[in-house]
Amino acid sequence: MPIPPAGLRRIDQLLSACGYCSRREAKEWVKRGWVMVDGVVAKSAEDRVDAAKVVVEGEPLDHPDGLLVLFHKPVGTICTHEDEEGPTIYGLLPERWKDRNPPVSSVGRLDKDTSGVLVLTDDGALVQKWTAPRHHVPKVYEVGLDRDPSPDWIPLFASGTFKMLGETKPCAPAKLELVGPCAARLELTEGRFHQVKRMFGAVGAVVTTLHRSRFGPYELGDLAPGAWKLLPPEAVAT
Ligand code: URA
Repeated sequence: MPIPPAGLRRIDQLLSACGYCSRREAKEWVKRGWVMVDGVVAKSAEDRVDAAKVVVEGEPLDHPDGLLVLFHKPVGTICTHEDEEGPTIYGLLPERWKDRNPPVSSVGRLDKDTSGVLVLTDDGALVQKWTAPRHHVPKVYEVGLDRDPSPDWIPLFASGTFKMLGETKPCAPAKLELVGPCAARLELTEGRFHQVKRMFGAVGAVVTTLHRSRFGPYELGDLAPGAWKLLPPEAVAT
């Protein structure tokens, strides 16, 4: 049998990877004539094809080469795939993405009461890389507090010796700016559990609102809460 050219993928694999249907169901989709390749109705779900030439129900395939998405997480949504504890961020994305394989996941998580920048991708290696502590992706948080922030906290948070309650390992140096009454901006290179709330908690302040305004190179611009936009693959910060 001739070896198919590199880069070609089976139709059933493509449909299931992009969340249309299972590999088994793909047979039926092809049989019903719902899949076209290069303008011709596909014959077999096992055929290897160029994903860019596949049309399903009249539309090109939904991002067969992977997804990188910038999302504005609204307050009140949770960053899990299960919706037992309330509405999830995934409920605000296209329905078909829930069935993609590999799945679409957020790079790190934000608390339910936190809003702001989240990057989502189906590239597991990218998630690993951007969440690895050694990668030091800068993250900027706009923080509302129950009191005016103290200038004394600036050198404390920047010291590299500051510890949160219950932790033995000090926080990496963090940049604090005092931006107004009861308001601060904090730049972290780590992503420990509830880190912003716990850092301010350790100096006796309560975080009343929390918004992430930057993740690595990504900012929201005019993206409304709950909205998303595709990032070009070349935007991936390596
Ligand atoms: N730190 C927190 O405390 N919560 C977040 O959601 C993100 C960082």
